[in-house]
Amino acid sequence: MKQVLLLHGPNLNMTGIREKGVYGSETLEDINRELMEYASKLGIALEIFQSNHEGELIDKIHEAYGKKDAIVINPGAFTHYSYAIRDALAAVQLPAVEVHLSNIHQREEFRHTSVTAPVCKGQICGFGKWGYFAALDLVNRL
Ligand code: DQA
Repeated sequence: MKQVLLLHGPNLNMTGIREKGVYGSETLEDINRELMEYASKLGIALEIFQSNHEGELIDKIHEAYGKKDAIVINPGAFTHYSYAIRDALAAVQLPAVEVHLSNIHQREEFRHTSVTAPVCKGQICGFGKWGYFAALDLVNRL
């Protein structure tokens, strides 16, 4: 069974409440529940963790070393400036997929840069919650 860690970064706990036009009206809890079901259908053991704190996300990435087969991560705003999360992803050398609910390339200029994507296998953005489902399909094929 593939062991996959799904990380949600800052403010993603407010999904379904904040900027519904951008991020949708489903809560993170709803999305996570559907993802857990989908993962079990794929035969993936999925652990999901959300934090608003950079260090907690980094600790989780480190913990994945030697235990998980892949990481799916939506680093939220950390995407655009956290060299520390980027270094943590590079350190554990696990295949990672970066996911964004919104299409960051259609939004403000500061969102066009991802410092984390270069250390990931790839990035999925603009498909709302379906990006996470696609990421699970992809890591299942790695
Ligand atoms: C986001 C995009 C980021 O720019 C933003 O800071 C987020 C959410 C997304 O899922 O579209 O918090 O990662």
